Amino acid sequence: MSNVLLVGTHWGDEGKGKIVDVLSENASGCVRFQGGHNAGHTLVINGVKTILHLIPSGILRDNVTSIIGNGVVISLEALETELNDLASKNISIKNKLFISEACHVILPTHVALDIAHEKSLGKSSIGTTGRGIGPTYEDKVARRGIRLIDFYNIDNLRKKLIKSMDYHNFLLTKYYKESPISLESVLESLTPIFENIKDHVCDVIPLILDLNKKSNIIFEGAQGTMLDIDHGTYPYVTSSNTTLSGLISGTGIGVDKVNYSLGITKAYTTRVGHGPFPSELHDQLGLDIAKWGGEVGATTGRARRCGWLDMKILNKSIELNRINGIALTKLDVLDNLDLIKICIGYGDIDYDTFEVDGLEYIELKGWKSSTVGITNYKDLPENAKLYIKAIEELSKTPVVMISTGPARNEIICLKDIFAT
Ligand code: IMP
Repeated sequence: MSNVLLVGTHWGDEGKGKIVDVLSENASGCVRFQGGHNAGHTLVINGVKTILHLIPSGILRDNVTSIIGNGVVISLEALETELNDLASKNISIKNKLFISEACHVILPTHVALDIAHEKSLGKSSIGTTGRGIGPTYEDKVARRGIRLIDFYNIDNLRKKLIKSMDYHNFLLTKYYKESPISLESVLESLTPIFENIKDHVCDVIPLILDLNKKSNIIFEGAQGTMLDIDHGTYPYVTSSNTTLSGLISGTGIGVDKVNYSLGITKAYTTRVGHGPFPSELHDQLGLDIAKWGGEVGATTGRARRCGWLDMKILNKSIELNRINGIALTKLDVLDNLDLIKICIGYGDIDYDTFEVDGLEYIELKGWKSSTVGITNYKDLPENAKLYIKAIEELSKTPVVMISTGPARNEIICLKDIFAT
């Protein structure tokens, strides 16, 4: 049986949710391993749009067990909202959703600290999603975090919460001059939610290994390679390892279990939040691409910055994630263009001004016809094929899937990813 890693090659929002959904037809498991509800995975099935933040995208398939690994940070309130949304769409989670008891829990104080810290940074803020992700990972590493397993014993939970929340409230009031948050309000809001979901909380490693004996598993990365805490555009990054290494630490399974690494690459590049973006388009074309591509953050509703495909990043991503093949998404968004550029290199990035030395591009002719909904490679316009070929040549990696629209069936599959 085969396991596939799906990883965003740039700054997230590459369209991973849809590719997970397509592949999960032939999988028994879908596992999230890092991040939290800062992610936003949009799926359109039979015209109905579902945005998932925390729950793996495989949940929309009856044949898939969805698992949240220990590397994910959990907001119980966000989980409850997402579960209610799924229930309203008659999507069952019974025996289909399991969450690692080792997941760290995002507390209301983490959210308040995230927002207060961003405010204090002023113009040099990171542009976080304000969901408490960073402070929760900080506490994990500082060994004062609260995990789901702590919720089994309320007396112990209270003791642990006193310790960590004392520290949070000290920072909130004395350092950031914000209001404190009461322990009782946190216990009151979070414990009933835990009670409702506790049947889904367990040690997930045996489950993953067992599923893998029967069928294929998808490991669903969140965010993208350039947001990786170690390898991304630091400090303008998220707080987890969004790359292959995050899969290993965030699930507890061995690297030998990853049979195929699929890089999800958008036909152009986008970024939400602040930070350097060498191939960014600062003109009307950038705004047009954002409009055609519906480039609005699924989590925060913020407009995404748009630019040309950045090969330097793609190649770094291929190396870091041991990518075997590329799933190219949103090709149809470029349908109207006369000319398409690919950024092939640049020198140093200035992390204060975000200016970049020596940007180099190659130019290709656009195809000026609709690729929407095309499912056969041979039906693509010749210039679109040339664009894909250029990406393959510049990355020395095959393009194995091409997404031509948001719906499940708007896809060209050139390889059976699981038959590796
Ligand atoms: P945080 O993850 O909320 O701490 O935000 C850190 C940076 O990561 C910010 O620039 C966010 O906009 C970005 N970010 C976090 N999650 C996502 C995502 O799912 N897609 C794209 N950017 C993200």
